[in-house]
Parts: sequence; C-alpha cells; structure tokens
Amino acid sequence: MLTVEKSNVWLQDVIRKITDKMDWVSEKSKHKIPYTTIHGVHDDKSVSNSNAGSGDGISWWTNGFWGGMMWQMYHVTGQEKYKEFANLSENKLDAGLQQYYGLHHDVGFMWLPTSVANYRITRNPESRKRALHAANLLAGRYNPAGEFIRAWNDLDGEDTRGWAIIDCMFNIPILYWATEETGDPRFMQIAIKHADTAMNTFVRPDGSVNHIVEFDPFHGGVVKTYGGQGYEEGSSWTRGQSWGLYGFMMSFIHTGKEEYLHTAKRIAHYFIANIPENGIIPIDFRQPKDPAYEDSTAAAIAACGLIEISKAVGEHEKDLYLGTALKLLKVLDELRTDWTRDCDCILKNGSAAYHAKEHHQSIIYGDYYFMEAIFKLKGNDLYLW
Ligand code: GLY
Repeated sequence: MLTVEKSNVWLQDVIRKITDKMDWVSEKSKHKIPYTTIHGVHDDKSVSNSNAGSGDGISWWTNGFWGGMMWQMYHVTGQEKYKEFANLSENKLDAGLQQYYGLHHDVGFMWLPTSVANYRITRNPESRKRALHAANLLAGRYNPAGEFIRAWNDLDGEDTRGWAIIDCMFNIPILYWATEETGDPRFMQIAIKHADTAMNTFVRPDGSVNHIVEFDPFHGGVVKTYGGQGYEEGSSWTRGQSWGLYGFMMSFIHTGKEEYLHTAKRIAHYFIANIPENGIIPIDFRQPKDPAYEDSTAAAIAACGLIEISKAVGEHEKDLYLGTALKLLKVLDELRTDWTRDCDCILKNGSAAYHAKEHHQSIIYGDYYFMEAIFKLKGNDLYLW
C-alpha cells in the first residue's frame, strides 16, 4: 500500500521550503491581507476598500486564507508570531462584518480559517462571536423554496436571486460548526439541505460538476446552468471540480452521510480521468488546447480532497486517491513553485477564471491549499473546515 512516511525525503524537503519561506514572508506581509502579487510583492485587500459594498476590499472572498496560513504555520511550528499575525488579520475583517453589503455566501471561506480556527485553538470568545455572526449571515441566505443557499448579491445589474454555485460547499462547514458549537440544529439542517440540492443538481452523470445553477427563487426547480468561471456552459471548470470533490468530503466529515463520500468519489474519478499526462491542470477540462491556460490552484485543492478521500476509504482503494494527490503535488513542487525572495507567494500559474483578463498569477488560496495538502501528508494536521 502507498503511504507517505513522515521521514519521506521529498516531503521533509517541501515542509522545510514552506517553513523557510513563510518565516520571512509572514514578517513582511503581517499587516496585509494578500490576494495576489504585483511584481512579486503581496497586494493588500485590507486597504483597497473604496468599493467595499461590491464585495471587494475588506469584503473580498479570499480574505480568510492569509489568516488560515498563519494558523497552519502556528500549528506546525508552535511559533507565537504566527498566532499574532493571524489575530491581526482576523481583527481587520470586522470592518467587513460592519459594512455587511459587500458580504456574499463566502463568509465561510472568510471566517472558518480565521475566527473558527482561532476559537478552536484558543477558545477566544470574541472569535466565537464573529464566527456565529458569519454563520447566521450564511443561514440567512437560504432559500427554502429551492432548498439552496444564494451565492452572490446582484452583480452588475444581473438578477442572481436564484443562483447557487458549487464553491458554496466550502462555505457550509461554518454551518456544521455552528450546530456543533451551539447545539442548535438549524444551521446543520440548512447545510444538509443545500448539500443535497447541490448533489442532485450540480453533479452531472459523468461525475463533472456545473459551476452555477440557477433556481426559480419563488418556487424552486432548476431554471438553467452557466459555465461561470470556466470556458462555457456545459464545460468543466477545474477549480469548480475541486470545490465539489473536497467540498462533498467536508460534508461527509461533518455528517457521516455516505452519499456525500460517494459523490466526492464520483467527482474525483472524473477529475483523475481527465488529468493530462504532464500533471498540469488546465483552467477547464473542456477548454480548447490552445492557449494552454492552466490553474495550479485547482490542483492544490483537488490534492487536499483526494488525501481526505484516501483516509475515508478501505485499504484496497487508498492508492488511487493518495497516489494521484502525490502526483499533483510533486508536479506543483517541481514546476510551479517559487521558493525565492523574488516573489511573496509560493505557487505560480493560478488563474481566477478562463475569461479573466489575466492568467497565470499567484493567488493566495493556491498557497493556502498547497500548504494544507503538504501538511496533511505529514499527519497530525490542522483541519480548518
Ligand atoms: N470561489 C470563487 C473562485 O473559486 O474563484
């Protein structure tokens, strides 16, 4: 059986490279909440706040990942400075809660790796309050007629009252946490309703997933699907496949419902069957061959989910999932990392969306999930979801 020993030379080397790099990057960026890099230097979403009501600035959906990286580093190194830096970023997010209008369903992405992590580790009552506040905001986006959680507020005049997106599978764990913490079943009931709807409407017969499904917000029922951040309607945006693969595992971990494990495996089988020979993940598995756009973040997120599946299945199945995760991570390490001082990020060649203006940039969640995946291989890891 395939296993990754803690003493594995490759694994030890990558852990050392991560800890060496984060040692100086964390000091340099401790007052920032980075999303990407500009000429190698972290940007700062906590200051670009002029248009916060739009979901940018302090309300930007990725603003929890930097704090999550700090908690991961605190867990691995025990160094107090990482706890201090995590707290700096968590405190800044309060402005997002106060502004309210910029928040979408991504409050799970924002407050699970920050306030929930802090509360789980330190029992800080202020973090508990923030996390419950975020969970209530997410629960308030539930549409009982369609049994889904509304994704975004209206975008550029587009009516999105009926829109749900696969990414939300990473937000609903804050609802599972809220029930686990308070004993109030409402949060988990909403999370399960949403996960069941996603399982029945997003996942296609071949195991691929839609990015966006629009429901009738008054009566329920699917109206149409959209390609979203992928190539086109009916295509398969790779990060969306990864959100689905790992997201259904998260729901399995919190509920024990076998259907969620089965669904995560179905998406995983589709993902594995579509990995190109060179192990580099495109932005969309159904994009044209040229240009050869890629998204390293999809690979890192999928690796996390595949490792979790390998822990949940029988001995005879493990190798497929763990072996694929190792392949993805080794390709990232060999070809798509920057360990130098020329760049504040670790992963290269992330892409936010197929039709975005820019491709192949560093994106903070690429670094976060690469780190999470590597630390999972080490064992005794910090599970933030
Ligand atoms: N959750 C939005 C994205 O993956 O870009």
